[in-house]
Amino acid sequence: MSKPAGSSPHTRTHLELTYREDLPDTHSLDPYLQQFWARHLAPARRCGLFPPHHSEPVSSIWLVEYVVRVGCANVPAIGFAAGATQPHYRRRGFFTELMSEAMVRASTSAPIAFLKGIDGFYKRLGFVPFCPERKFRLPRGVLANFRADAPDSIQLWEDRYKADACALYNQQHAHRTGTTVRDPARFLGPRATNSWMPGDEAAVCLRRGQLVGYVFTTHLPFGQSWRRFEVREIVAADLAAASALLAHVRELAVRARRGNIEIDEPPDSVVGGLLRLTTCTFRERNSADGGWMAVVLDRRRLIDLIGPELDRRFSSGSAPATRALRTGNLLTDTAALTHALLRPNGWAEIDQLVSAERRGSYWPEFRARCAAGVAEAMPTPFLHASDRF
Ligand SMILES: CC(C)(COP(=O)(O)OP(=O)(O)OC[C@H]1O[C@@H](n2cnc3c(N)ncnc32)[C@H](O)[C@@H]1OP(=O)(O)O)[C@@H](O)C(=O)NCCC(=O)NCCS
Repeated sequence: MSKPAGSSPHTRTHLELTYREDLPDTHSLDPYLQQFWARHLAPARRCGLFPPHHSEPVSSIWLVEYVVRVGCANVPAIGFAAGATQPHYRRRGFFTELMSEAMVRASTSAPIAFLKGIDGFYKRLGFVPFCPERKFRLPRGVLANFRADAPDSIQLWEDRYKADACALYNQQHAHRTGTTVRDPARFLGPRATNSWMPGDEAAVCLRRGQLVGYVFTTHLPFGQSWRRFEVREIVAADLAAASALLAHVRELAVRARRGNIEIDEPPDSVVGGLLRLTTCTFRERNSADGGWMAVVLDRRRLIDLIGPELDRRFSSGSAPATRALRTGNLLTDTAALTHALLRPNGWAEIDQLVSAERRGSYWPEFRARCAAGVAEAMPTPFLHASDRF
């Protein structure tokens, strides 16, 4: 196989390795991955490190191209997924090598990258956690008071609702960092079976023919030890639609004979707000070095792209601070920059991350300008199950 333009040999690891992208047949390699990609953002390509004359890489990872929100700004992003090194090649630096190369190349198309990291590995590559795992858990009985009031009604999902569902999602999560800017042409939607068999189901809430909400649920077939009933996504235009959809969720859980329901929603969405009024638990799992992580690949381009978001957060006259962010005079440390831009409470946290001498002359002025209202004004970052990779 000829070496593609731009590939580079790696010798540090005592094996002459070649980096390649666009590996063929990326979806059908593994039945588990095939299933995974059938209901998540699909990968654009796979890259790997190859020894000479080998058709299988020693180390490889999938790349997903998408558009992510950083507050109110839309930014092209790369998601890294399902990375692995063949067992007998592990702990020789191959994966670190592969990621370093893949990140440099990705930086030409996307200024920011995301992944779900195993604990204790990705910090060395500059990734920082930006979004805890968040879930509501509730006994189905607490949904008994919710109902659909006329003119709202629940109907089974059909693919013709996809464009309106994407539009509603984009509107409801317009400023929510970490969410994907949904494009109906790319969004897979639910893998709804809508049959009497257990599995995935999807429904919409209609009001005089208009879509005002939808829900994607899943539960595993009978005989599985996993007893939970899961709501993968539930989006409502208002409290009435949220109430109708939650009543429907309860009916599904009764039918599935599941006593507990898990709901994958941010606490400050319309549905999250309603759920917080019930007897539920809300679990938030933070990780110091793992979970959903992000890294800034191209600082200048990112700062340019998120201009509207910086304007929104800062009072007028913050141009010097923005310029300093762009050149790296302010928040030189990329991890601190990532925290500041992506986490709602970032400004408080970076005090601990950035040492006094590295804060630079702009820092006190900058912080004074930005401190007020940042945490309150920003929705919590979130990644819905359908957008994971
Ligand atoms: C994780 C993995 C990709 C690392 O590949 P690798 O080529 O051995 O990586 P490197 O040699 O560059 O780095 C090795 C480091 O990874 C760390 N590591 C390996 N597996 C780890 C795990 N499950 N959790 C945390 N760290 C891990 C090792 O501690 C080692 O660090 P150290 O040598 O400083 O102690 C490989 O172990 C693997 O394929 N695991 C199974 C698949 C997997 O879990 N993928 C998760 C990707 S998010």
